[in-house]
Amino acid sequence: MRFITAALLSSLSMGAYADNYQALTAEGAALIPPFQQQLLATVKTAMQSGGPVKAVEACQLLAPQIASEHSQSPWKVGRTALKVRNPANAADAWEKQVLEQFAKRAEAGEALADMLHSEVVAGELRMMKAITTGEPCLACHGKNIEPALAAVIDVGYPQDEARGFALGELRGAFTLRRTVDDGND
Ligand code: HEC
Repeated sequence: MRFITAALLSSLSMGAYADNYQALTAEGAALIPPFQQQLLATVKTAMQSGGPVKAVEACQLLAPQIASEHSQSPWKVGRTALKVRNPANAADAWEKQVLEQFAKRAEAGEALADMLHSEVVAGELRMMKAITTGEPCLACHGKNIEPALAAVIDVGYPQDEARGFALGELRGAFTLRRTVDDGND
């Protein structure tokens, strides 16, 4: 009897933990679309008003600011990739391993569009969502970057690795994190 109660209690608290985990991942996932939309709108507006050179300047100036605006405490949102333009966006060990998994899953035929991974790591809930290389991205991340534009990118990002991407390829990922309790409360 005592055993049954303990098992029941433990499965109940596991259930509560699972519910909580689901609610938190949904909360995190909901932060991604407005973040993504603002980044896209910012690049698009800058492209229209001043062409790609202006858009690179806008990205450099505004991308980090947009990320911090969309980081609603306790969440922190950002972007990362295996090959980054801004070294401040470099993947840590966990992110690198998730990005490598995304690339493998894509190779095996899975669509990048809904590729998402979440995990509790060292007291934090961490989430990543794959970013696909779309047509408008190629001007700045593709194989044939206009020389004048490449020169501007070189000045802003002397260590740029984020070139040579093909349409539909994994470009990187949104990355989110927040602290969580261990689920035993
Ligand atoms: C006008 C040029 C331009 C276009 C178009 C552009 N990007 Fe970028 N991208 C940049 C710049 C500049 C950065 C570095 C921003 C920073 O300093 O944080 C960047 C950074 C990124 C990063 C963060 C990781 C890193 O490399 O530092 C991702 C992911 C990314 N871009 C994806 C995309 C995708 C997907 C598209 C198409 C929807 C796109 N970009 C279109 C210029 C561009």
